[in-house]
Amino acid sequence: MATTLTVNGQAREVDADPDTPLLWVLRDDLNLTGTKFGCGVAQCGACTVHVDGAPTRSCQLPISAATGAITTIEAIDGAEAKAVQAAWVALDVPQCGYCQSGQIMSAVSLLKDNKTPSDADIDSAMSGNLCRCATYVRIRAAIHQAAKSLNPQEKAA
Ligand code: FES
Ligand code: FES
Repeated sequence: MATTLTVNGQAREVDADPDTPLLWVLRDDLNLTGTKFGCGVAQCGACTVHVDGAPTRSCQLPISAATGAITTIEAIDGAEAKAVQAAWVALDVPQCGYCQSGQIMSAVSLLKDNKTPSDADIDSAMSGNLCRCATYVRIRAAIHQAAKSLNPQEKAA
């Protein structure tokens, strides 16, 4: 059965059962493999995409319910995304890298909502994103650095 999804700004028609998780369709039908499969049960965050800007676990979202604008790591853009990606590179955040696209999607969402997150804000926003390489300290530092770059007053301070 055909379903039309809006992915990275484009209407994409996919021929899949309506119950198929969005993650499967992104990776197998649309070849958007930056979004990763980790647990499959909404516990690890590796599959995080944005749906209408909100971080969403694509492994647990059937395509029949994926009616909003879907953005994947391949097309993430805007000031927050640029700041996060620059901080990730500057602080050499990834280790094996597997969890990192999900981490970045959650970090960008956090900074869209909160330009000056505290450690507690970061820990809360990122708590659903697991990293088996334990890059959490660098992730937190990179989010602070990205926040600084988005706040000229803090940069000057
Ligand atoms: S693969 Fe979706 S949360 Fe783990
Ligand atoms: S960098 Fe390896 S799982 Fe996070």
